[in-house]
Amino acid sequence: LAQLPEGYSCRPLQRNDYYNSFLDVLRVLTTVGDISEQQWNERYEWMSHRNDEYFLLCITNETGKIVGTGALVVERKFIHNLGLVGHIEDIAVAKDQQGKKLGLRMIQALDYVAEKVGCYKSILDCSEANEGFYVKCGFRRAGLEMAHYY
Ligand code: ACO
Repeated sequence: LAQLPEGYSCRPLQRNDYYNSFLDVLRVLTTVGDISEQQWNERYEWMSHRNDEYFLLCITNETGKIVGTGALVVERKFIHNLGLVGHIEDIAVAKDQQGKKLGLRMIQALDYVAEKVGCYKSILDCSEANEGFYVKCGFRRAGLEMAHYY
């Protein structure tokens, strides 16, 4: 990720990111709720035992604060010769940091991981308003999302 702006870097999520704006960055995307440190630790622990399936990345600024985040979830299938599909999820860049190509770099980093672990494709759901962003990241419209909320 040499192309990140000076002072910025990209790294995996860490346990102590509970105190490092990770959840605040996600609030740019949607409701997060009040997550206690214990709840955070339990979920973090759960994911870290599945570190060949859950890849959560962060972009930090020059002070080390998280300003962008994104996730890749690798699904193992029977079809396509036990194919692996990457699901790109929960991409968010802090409001005052948008437009600096951080979102693009996050997608490129997740794409790199997906390809490296052997995914034959990555897919994601987004709003019409974000279609242009993902097209610039190399994605194209394919299919239709449906949801059943419980
Ligand atoms: N529509 C069209 N083009 C866009 C959009 C958009 N909504 N957003 C960015 N672009 C373009 C930029 O202009 C830029 O184009 P250029 O290369 O010609 O200059 C290119 O896409 C890359 O943009 P970035 O600067 O990397 O975008 P940014 O860092 O602002 O991140 C993001 C984009 C992630 C959508 C950010 O605006 C954000 O966090 N939004 C709120 C949360 C959100 O909607 N997240 C996505 C949810 S979908 C999912 O998670 C799978």
